[in-house]
Amino acid sequence: MRTKIVAGNWKMNNDLAQTETLITELKRQNNPSDVEVMIAPSFTNLWQAFNSLKDDSIEVIAQNMHFADSGAYTGEVSGEMLKSLGIKTVILGHSERRAYFNETDELLAKKVDAALKNDIRVIFCFGEELKDRKSEKHEDVVGNQIKNALFHLEAEAFKNIVLAYEPVWAIGTGETASPEQAQDMHSFIRKTLADKYGKDLAESVSILYGGSCKPSNAKEIFSKPDVDGGLIGGAALKAEDFFAIANSF
Ligand code: PGA
Repeated sequence: MRTKIVAGNWKMNNDLAQTETLITELKRQNNPSDVEVMIAPSFTNLWQAFNSLKDDSIEVIAQNMHFADSGAYTGEVSGEMLKSLGIKTVILGHSERRAYFNETDELLAKKVDAALKNDIRVIFCFGEELKDRKSEKHEDVVGNQIKNALFHLEAEAFKNIVLAYEPVWAIGTGETASPEQAQDMHSFIRKTLADKYGKDLAESVSILYGGSCKPSNAKEIFSKPDVDGGLIGGAALKAEDFFAIANSF
């Protein structure tokens, strides 16, 4: 059975006080026992969040990291630093990192290696832009993003990889992929994995959907056989909505 995951990506939202308030509200919600629930606050609030939730089942994860363990990279945070806090999961390859900070597949391959080396599980994000979908190139684009950043890995490494399909046209836009579009792509992703690593491995990797996922559409999306959960942006900033989504399986 694949792990079900609902991860909240807070992006650049919530200062320290707001982080504490939202965590207090999250602790009051009913946490589903068969779903891994995670939140990704900003770096400045990670330590606070980690400590506030250390006796809770909600995992605190990071939104990004650098590929080097240390060095002259002003403003960056390394996997070694995250590990020293006790952080065990990092989001890599989010489309906002790709679009605004020029993160390429090549760079992401290095970040993935660095995370795994530090025993940090990776939620690896990818997804096509609207123009790719319109020109029916979405499968090529997604296939290449996965191959370029992950296919140098040994099969063993996929124990610590979660995939997150996030069509760029659905992120923060209110527009969601239909449950069928999500299922079609997730099934394509699983086939891409199976072609390279075999069916057993492909069946074992959790694939999340992200992009305007909310309480009103999560149930239908999560009911699809190849959708194992969600990476949630906007709706993760409200405790009630976030937990309604986590309880949508
Ligand atoms: P959204 O963001 O839910 O606000 O569309 C999803 C994401 O960027 O992970």
